[in-house]
Amino acid sequence: MVNFPGQEENLPERSPMETRSNDFERGLRLMLDAIAAAQERGEPPLTAAQARTELEGLARHRGRPLFFPYLGSGLGKGARMMAADGRWVLDLALGVGVHIFGHGNRDLIETALRAACSDLVMQGNLIFNREYSALMRTLLAHAPATMEHCWLSLSGADANENALKLVRRRREGRPGVIAFRGCFHGRTTAMAEITDRPDYRRGQPHTFPVAYVPFYDPRDQGSIDKSLKALRAIVHRDGEQMAAFLVELVQGEAGFLAAPREFFVPLFEECARAKIPIWIDEIQTFGRVSELFATDMLGLADYASVITVGKILQGSAMLFRAELAPDPGLVSGTFAGATVAMAVGRQIVEKLVGEGFFGPQGREKRLERLCFERLEQLSRRYPDALREFHGVGAMIAFKLGDGSYESTQAFLRRCFETGLALYYGGHQPAWVRMFLPAGVITEAELDEAFAIIERRLTD
Ligand SMILES: Cc1ncc(COP(=O)(O)O)c(C=O)c1O
Repeated sequence: MVNFPGQEENLPERSPMETRSNDFERGLRLMLDAIAAAQERGEPPLTAAQARTELEGLARHRGRPLFFPYLGSGLGKGARMMAADGRWVLDLALGVGVHIFGHGNRDLIETALRAACSDLVMQGNLIFNREYSALMRTLLAHAPATMEHCWLSLSGADANENALKLVRRRREGRPGVIAFRGCFHGRTTAMAEITDRPDYRRGQPHTFPVAYVPFYDPRDQGSIDKSLKALRAIVHRDGEQMAAFLVELVQGEAGFLAAPREFFVPLFEECARAKIPIWIDEIQTFGRVSELFATDMLGLADYASVITVGKILQGSAMLFRAELAPDPGLVSGTFAGATVAMAVGRQIVEKLVGEGFFGPQGREKRLERLCFERLEQLSRRYPDALREFHGVGAMIAFKLGDGSYESTQAFLRRCFETGLALYYGGHQPAWVRMFLPAGVITEAELDEAFAIIERRLTD
């Protein structure tokens, strides 16, 4: 093991690959201009018939139908994606919350091109280049102050698997997890066991205890007490089997359900008394609420032992306290990320933090207010069709009628045909989720999205 003295602030910012010769810089400018010109021309690579054939083949190869009949051209711009056959779609699905700077962003493409010229496509956990350490440095610099270490991984579920190992190691012999009703934590075997969707784990065995606490219900005055009572019962009965309390502070796949700080504090205090670590899954909330971390937005950093992030990071990571530092071999893996993804993920974080996205007057809070104004108007005009809405920052959801799963799916398809991609969350009820590309969407595009929503609401 090598220990380095803490002189990181004196490190030169750019690696050799990023400060190449004048020829390199000239070539890069030419390339960026050529990409912008191709975006401007917007020449579709396929005809409609060819795109259909390719999509049919794709569905056949995957062995199940596609959700949207969409194949990207790679020429998308801002909040709009462009299909391979030239169709434009306003993208408020963002690959389930990944592309916060939308499509074809010049800053991100430039970073990607520089990183792509590195000698390695992928980086692992044994030998790494500077993108690996730069990403960790950036994450730790902006993470809640209680997080001392960082470990990179590929998918959100990977980061959660690593975190599960850390809390289990800390609570040796206690394999169980306490989680919230309606939670989603990924699709690996362990995460599928915790995720509160039995239909996502058909045929899979139960291998460790999982106990659920009801999530916050804003319509129920007694919600906080009910959840606390349920947690106390679990801790009293099974606390000695539990490695951690795993929480989403805003439930993503359940339909962007949020809860106030007052809901979490008594639950976390109860866990602190029982020495059960709090593990916060920010894979979906990271960068998409009114602070970089929902943990900071709600002032809950003191309670967290480990936090996992993903999606907008273009990879994933866990951040954790020193007492959870893993033994050699407990977490690792061939890959920690692609060089391009690491460099771009880091830049996304820097842009979000540096370009006024957070805080009460930040871009994400402003988008939230704009969406709520428009949803308020729609719910007044169509009280039967659009009843409820909620959300935080770039995560906004509304319910159609009684939230039937089938009518929500049909609505999504109608919107898509009209040029708007939205997605859903939750099952009973289902919510329409708007994943806002906070980095690029304009107010005019937001109005266009709501005009389509209004048009397709009633037919
Ligand atoms: C809260 C949460 N945790 C974990 C995951 C799993 O992330 P991934 O799909 O990258 O494995 C997701 C994905 O939607 C998520 O929303």
